[in-house]
Amino acid sequence: MINPAEEFLSPRLKAVHDMAVDGLSDISSRRFVDVGSDHGHLSLYALINDGFRSAVLTDIHAAPAQRSKETLDLYGYGDKASVYTTDGLDGVVLCEGDVIVMAGLGGNNMIDIMTRVQKTLDEKLLKSLVWCLQPQKSSDKLRQFLFESGFEIVDENACEDRGFHYVMMKVKFTGVPTEYTLKQKYYGPVILRRIAAGEPEAMGYKERLDMRFELSKRGDEEIRRMLEEV
Ligand SMILES: C[S@@+](CC[C@H](N)C(=O)[O-])C[C@H]1O[C@@H](n2cnc3c(N)ncnc32)[C@H](O)[C@@H]1O
Repeated sequence: MINPAEEFLSPRLKAVHDMAVDGLSDISSRRFVDVGSDHGHLSLYALINDGFRSAVLTDIHAAPAQRSKETLDLYGYGDKASVYTTDGLDGVVLCEGDVIVMAGLGGNNMIDIMTRVQKTLDEKLLKSLVWCLQPQKSSDKLRQFLFESGFEIVDENACEDRGFHYVMMKVKFTGVPTEYTLKQKYYGPVILRRIAAGEPEAMGYKERLDMRFELSKRGDEEIRRMLEEV
């Protein structure tokens, strides 16, 4: 068995984990909710290293959900974890202070999942949730949804893992939509501040995005306007 207290997570998942738990108060009363759990490593790591009360793992497919369950059982944490085969958080009763991580899913998928949650929860519960999102694609659309739907991006960063750049964001519901510029939509409001401060992860991410936008600006009027923004 590998020691989950040590080098167990990929650099990407470790960065997502670190952002999710950063600054959290009262972890022992919270649940760690991992949507798209696949192998279950992230929840296991959080249970062992952070002392969450329990974990909830969901996966839309039965095989990864089963894999998640086996991981938690193998390391003796089966009694602290509930595993669901479901789409997003459908059928999961969310609790005050839950820390919800969605890593490796597409941004549009995340929007659908969050929209359904937003429709069903009362505002007080919704405001108590902490979300940590690592979209595999469509981060711009995800940010637009967050800005317009009353979610605040409280933290955001990038990381590099095996030559790929990933973005992750920590989000809280405030109920107040945020006005945004196109640069904020495409690069991320906190990432832009990190770029201005010369932080290496953010600079690496910017370089990758600059190249992508340079290529796509011909066929995309919004990207052209974004690049012209001061
Ligand atoms: C690329 S894997 C990422 C696994 C892990 N979260 C990570 O970041 O390494 C995506 C996982 O999410 C699951 N998934 C995709 N869409 C989902 C949804 N709507 N609800 C729950 N699970 C989903 C897939 O079955 C797969 O196991």
